[in-house]
Amino acid sequence: MTAIRHLDPLDRLLDSAQNALVTLLGRPRAARCNPGLAEPEVVLDPPERRHAAGLMRINHTGEVCAQALYVGQAAVARDPATRDHLLAAAQEETDHLAWCADRLRELDSRPSLLNPLWYAGSWLIGAAAGLRGDGWNLGFVVETERQVEAHLEEHLATLPAADARSRAILTVMKQDEARHAEHARKAGARRLPPPIPALMAATSRLMKAVAYRI
Ligand SMILES: [Fe+2]
Ligand SMILES: [Fe+2]
Repeated sequence: MTAIRHLDPLDRLLDSAQNALVTLLGRPRAARCNPGLAEPEVVLDPPERRHAAGLMRINHTGEVCAQALYVGQAAVARDPATRDHLLAAAQEETDHLAWCADRLRELDSRPSLLNPLWYAGSWLIGAAAGLRGDGWNLGFVVETERQVEAHLEEHLATLPAADARSRAILTVMKQDEARHAEHARKAGARRLPPPIPALMAATSRLMKAVAYRI
């Protein structure tokens, strides 16, 4: 007989706190091998390395936000199946988070100092979307993944030509994000009304401008 899990608000909050601690202070572990490791490490000149590190810091922060969005949505999900789906999705995003962190270390750089702030903001946005119900939850996933896919495309075009390792990581991430969006669409995502997509794009532009430097 399968035990039915009843999670009270404290359990849900503790799940979120644990995810926040691992994401922000721990060393998240990827389930899949880092795709960058298949490429040779090339020594980039200092301006190129700084630029590559800036872009990978943005992508790392994007993955911190993805963790927080999914966990925030899961924290308020009423249906246990939706909750499990969201937590499984957060697990897949952990690969991206770990790969970006690895690449930042290889580039002698570090994650954004403002990640705790981005995590908190994204968790609140995720929880607010989650409270509107499953259609909104999924619609939010589709819009987030669509925007992330577009900025990965932009980063692939502007990475230093010699940085094959970062390029390999971003290429696999882009394929994964497209799949995440497709799954959410098939699961019954609703189309988010204006001005939500535009607000999300503006927030993401601000995050990118800040995380490139800090
Ligand atoms: Fe991701
Ligand atoms: Fe994703």
